[in-house]
Amino acid sequence: MEFTCKEFKVGKCEGEKLVDGETMPLVLQPPAASKNDIDSLVMALKENNEWFEQMIIKNSAVLLRGFDVKNVVDFNEIVEAFGWDDIRYVGPAPRTHVYKRIWTANEGPLSEFIYYHHEMVLIKESPKKVILYCEIPPPEGGETPFVPSFRVTERIMEEFPEVVEELDKKGLTYTFTTLSKNNTSSMRGRGWEDTLGTSDPKEAEKRANALGMDLEWLPNGSVKAILGPRTLTRVFDGRKGRRMWFNTMVGMHGKEHSSATMADGTEIPIKFVKRCEEIIEEESIQFKWQKGDVLFFDNMALLHGRRPSLPPRKVLRLPTERSEFPLYLSSFCSTSTRNNSVLIREKSQHIVQDETKKARTTKKVVGCPFFSVVHRKGQQMEHGRHVVLGGWVLKEDEDILKTSHL
Ligand SMILES: [Fe+2]
Repeated sequence: MEFTCKEFKVGKCEGEKLVDGETMPLVLQPPAASKNDIDSLVMALKENNEWFEQMIIKNSAVLLRGFDVKNVVDFNEIVEAFGWDDIRYVGPAPRTHVYKRIWTANEGPLSEFIYYHHEMVLIKESPKKVILYCEIPPPEGGETPFVPSFRVTERIMEEFPEVVEELDKKGLTYTFTTLSKNNTSSMRGRGWEDTLGTSDPKEAEKRANALGMDLEWLPNGSVKAILGPRTLTRVFDGRKGRRMWFNTMVGMHGKEHSSATMADGTEIPIKFVKRCEEIIEEESIQFKWQKGDVLFFDNMALLHGRRPSLPPRKVLRLPTERSEFPLYLSSFCSTSTRNNSVLIREKSQHIVQDETKKARTTKKVVGCPFFSVVHRKGQQMEHGRHVVLGGWVLKEDEDILKTSHL
């Protein structure tokens, strides 16, 4: 792979780190002072699209600095230079649409720390990339720190290998509660109506199920979302086999409005959670914004957050390019193949209950939101994406609410 490109000059920024031989972030500047205008930049990006994308994967973060990116219109032009698909944000943070593909970043109070996370980590269509643009840098604080995810796994594995393996095997179940309407006084204040794009509870349930979560209605119109099992770590193609810390356990564990447990209901040891939190902070790269900065993250490889800030601060963002990685391909999927049927379970509490009752059979595929066509391995396979799980071949299907009889 060619690491240089004549259209960009490699620079440096405060806080950058060398991680496993790669500088994070890779700073790219105009090749000459006269080439810092938006038209030159957009042309350079269009001509070196593939190279630029490779740099995002290689360095996990690429920062465009020193270009004259004046406003959201310029930012949108940069985004559109790539042709990556658009993704609707699903998550708890209140955000507002600004222009074309661009939305505000979390509009929750600037005084709060937004804990490190992979964007939309619990949702099937988590974006491969996140792009951020700084229109107004904060006068104090407000950094967007980020963390090489694989380093967290590496370090925690040195201290708690058994817990990591247990969690990876069982998976995690998360819950969080949310009101019906948006509340911008909280950084997790996005209501379920806005999140799911409907005020009809039945439709909300359907859409939530499609995204891989269940809803439990609470008396005041708020809702408890239950998600799981989800992975602790994941390995993605093209990332050197690195085991990413692809979860939001520390951010959701033991909080007022959220929880994280092992998928069979076992509590996660507190000292494990605390140590993970310390390691994440120690491994973080404290990135400080300058006006006009455009930062590209590999969302498969980096956790990111936001430090408390003094106003004003205006950072706009865009999640882009759907991930190709279904959530449920892991050993924690449970299959049952008696009576010539298969059951893919995603709710561990049901597994436990069913095992007690010795009732682990079904003739339907249930609780398997992203795979609906199921048949034995070796039978003719249809076109499309297939996975093999427990001796069965599953085909990914967008019609995820469908239940298939065998
Ligand atoms: Fe985020």
